[in-house]
Amino acid sequence: MFSSTGSEFSSLNASLRVKVFTESDSRFVDEVLGPNDGTDLCISTHIHRLEFGALSEGNIPVLILKEGASRSRGRDAQRNNILAAKVVTETIRTTLGPEGMDKMLVAGMGDVVITNDGATIMKELDVQHPAAKMLVEVAKSQDNEVGDGTTTAVVLAGELLSKAERLLDQEVHPTIIVDGYKKASEKALEILNGLAIPIQADDETALKRIAVTSMETKATVGTSSHLASLATKAISQIVEERDGKKIADIDRVKVLKKKGESMDQSELVKGIVVDKEVSHPQMPKVVKGAKIALLNAKLEIEKTEFDAKININSPDQIKSFLDEEETMLREMSEKISKSGANVVFCEKGIDDLVLHFLSKKNIMAIKNISSNDMEKLAKATGATILASTKDVSQDALGEAKLVEEVKIGDDKLVYVRDCKDPRAVTVVIRGGSEHVVDEAERSFHDALCVVRNAVEDQKIVAGGGAPEAETAKQLREYAVKVGGREQLAIEAYAEALEAIPLTLAENAGLDPIDIMVELRSKHSEPDHKWYGVQVKTGKIADMLADNVVEPLRVKLQVVKSATEAASMLLRIDDVVSSKGAKESGPPMPPGGGMPGGMGGMGGMPPGMM
Ligand SMILES: Nc1ncnc2c1ncn2[C@@H]1O[C@H](COP(=O)(O)OP(=O)(O)OP(=O)(O)O)[C@@H](O)[C@H]1O
Ligand SMILES: [Mg+2]
Repeated sequence: MFSSTGSEFSSLNASLRVKVFTESDSRFVDEVLGPNDGTDLCISTHIHRLEFGALSEGNIPVLILKEGASRSRGRDAQRNNILAAKVVTETIRTTLGPEGMDKMLVAGMGDVVITNDGATIMKELDVQHPAAKMLVEVAKSQDNEVGDGTTTAVVLAGELLSKAERLLDQEVHPTIIVDGYKKASEKALEILNGLAIPIQADDETALKRIAVTSMETKATVGTSSHLASLATKAISQIVEERDGKKIADIDRVKVLKKKGESMDQSELVKGIVVDKEVSHPQMPKVVKGAKIALLNAKLEIEKTEFDAKININSPDQIKSFLDEEETMLREMSEKISKSGANVVFCEKGIDDLVLHFLSKKNIMAIKNISSNDMEKLAKATGATILASTKDVSQDALGEAKLVEEVKIGDDKLVYVRDCKDPRAVTVVIRGGSEHVVDEAERSFHDALCVVRNAVEDQKIVAGGGAPEAETAKQLREYAVKVGGREQLAIEAYAEALEAIPLTLAENAGLDPIDIMVELRSKHSEPDHKWYGVQVKTGKIADMLADNVVEPLRVKLQVVKSATEAASMLLRIDDVVSSKGAKESGPPMPPGGGMPGGMGGMGGMPPGMM
């Protein structure tokens, strides 16, 4: 059944008709709908398609949209967008916090991903509804900007929309809501900045606490302490000062996952681990006091781009021809060995003969290294990447205390260990199964990002919903000062922020009403700004004293990305979907107007995933 209300056409003139396509015929519905007559059009036959248009004076229908296009307008469009956003939010909110559940996502090819990571869930959901897609964008931007807080951002965006829906019902105009939300978010950023606590960029204890808080919310619970200290050490190693500012580029931390052993066996290597093996069996597998040459030239005879024919008349000529090739290859290896290098990493191929010569000289060579690894090797060892063997010299070589080939499971890896003050490092993540290492890698990425944020900004806040509860309290005080209808929007914003401690409590099986009452009363007293939901004890506690801390940057970005997405969706009052967009999704759900359907979500009701 498809139903649509008469009010949808109210802004058009009286001569408006609806064309209905059924299985057997297509006809215009006879009633001509009057403006604002409020008539409900409800058709329950097997309708294939509905088309809206106007009648010209000559009674010729003027169709504005292409055949098959669909459109929802005004409040319907807003409601549908809010509904879609709410469905996505409901899906993801159960994963928030240390007691949050995980999701098992099965891709089309049968690949299974088990995760708690908001960004990964949103990416894998493969939603089709345009409004739902905007929430995916929220998660993506949150992940790219700050690396953590994706679930929080999506939950906040969803809450802002559902609170806005209530205001829309009270006839508050969307523009007023958007303006109110903007004011509220600016104030929230100000409040959060005021709340933040300064830390030292080299305060490893504080940094580790931040990493632990981030990792404890993931499936890696239990071993998070070890990985958290690896993340802290890795960032401390690569941080540098530019124009008086601390910069930690997380691309300089190579994360390599290898199934096997346990997560406790994960290791930080002060150098680079390359997922390749030594290229010749006779070469040394361990080189101490390594002098490393990095080459991005082929160690082979260059093949010409054109075909050439050489006529050879005698065996001597063949011999001298081959000898010449050998001499060239020998020269390449001589040049390397003369520079004093005992390890060569080559971005391109290495001729078997060159490998043979190098092995004779006890030089370890590894070929076909990715350019990414080459850059990291350069940063870790201090070597210069050379474009030709002719440039190999002692000055261009890098150093490491040890280069060794290690066998892990069926794979062989080359470890470049203990470089002197490396500007790039590697963390090798181990774990019992593929899913475990995959999830560990994702949470390790979050940990790296939060430590980076804290090192760069040197500002933190407590977690457990404490900053959200405190910001909500202060926003309410601010709302009274603003007054008018915007006050309602600012209060709605404060309520939406409280969804974070509320969801943390819900996910931990606590009574959300009791918790919220207690939390609000705590925050009404002075010096209780860091009280939040300690899900481990199920009590309201001072989260700062409990060492649940997060970087300020994550919280600021949550406010920014959630407000932007919610405001953008609220401004939309018309959704026009072309035929193509409609066909790509499953059928429209009853109630209509959900262009594109919910795609990968399969229209699943809230809370079912
Ligand atoms: N022991 C704890 N008690 C209560 N809340 C906690 C505790 N540890 C962490 N949290 C809170 O959990 C929330 C983070 O949860 P989670 O990591 O699942 O979501 P996210 O960071 O928003 O998203 P994602 O990590 O998926 O990108 C933060 O608000 C954090 O303060
Ligand atoms: Mg997190």
